[in-house]
Amino acid sequence: MKTRLAVIDDVAAIANLHAESWRNAYRGMLQDDYLDRKIFSERLALWEQRFHSAAANQHVCVAEVNDQVVGFACTYGGEDAKWGSFLDNLHVAAEHKRLGIGKALMQLVAGWSLAAYPGCGLYLWVLESNAPAIRFYEKMGGVRSGEGTWRPPDGGSYTKFRYAWSNLEPLLSVALS
Ligand SMILES: CC(C)(COP(=O)(O)OP(=O)(O)OC[C@H]1O[C@@H](n2cnc3c(N)ncnc32)[C@H](O)[C@@H]1OP(=O)(O)O)[C@@H](O)C(=O)NCCC(=O)NCCS
Repeated sequence: MKTRLAVIDDVAAIANLHAESWRNAYRGMLQDDYLDRKIFSERLALWEQRFHSAAANQHVCVAEVNDQVVGFACTYGGEDAKWGSFLDNLHVAAEHKRLGIGKALMQLVAGWSLAAYPGCGLYLWVLESNAPAIRFYEKMGGVRSGEGTWRPPDGGSYTKFRYAWSNLEPLLSVALS
């Protein structure tokens, strides 16, 4: 497994992984019609827009196994005055979970944020129902720091939690038990 910065040629692979991950994680929660028929084209449009007119603070990295994209993270550095850099997306392909890829991507993000936005923390939003991801973020040292409502494109409404790291140094060296 290796990690690297994403390039424009990764757009289709990232959109495909993003759509597939949403299908796996959000089946039974988001509408089937949305997950089966609309999600890929919507994710593709999002990623094309992100790569063609990238925000100055956007950072997208991917993990590869055998030259195939099996994970990605998208972060906006220094996005919030209080919470710091915003990890907007983190996904690992189902068949590559629990191999340390999520951790490697988070550590890459932490290292980048520390260098490019020194003094900033890191935060993200995770759905209340996404217990595996919550366990992962807690293992990575994230602290639940508030809640809000996620209104996905299919029109639903779901509780989400903010997880935050006020100091990114420990994340760089977090050990797996
Ligand atoms: C959450 C996610 C990114 C984690 O990535 P991953 O590569 O599977 O995680 P790692 O292998 O790096 O896990 C590191 C440690 O976190 C903990 N962890 C990870 N997933 C866990 C789970 N499902 N249950 C309990 N602990 C978990 C473990 O301690 C793990 O170490 P171990 O496997 O040696 O026990 C991945 O499961 C994923 O893509 N999920 C679907 C998309 C998603 O929900 N993204 C987050 C949206 S906010």
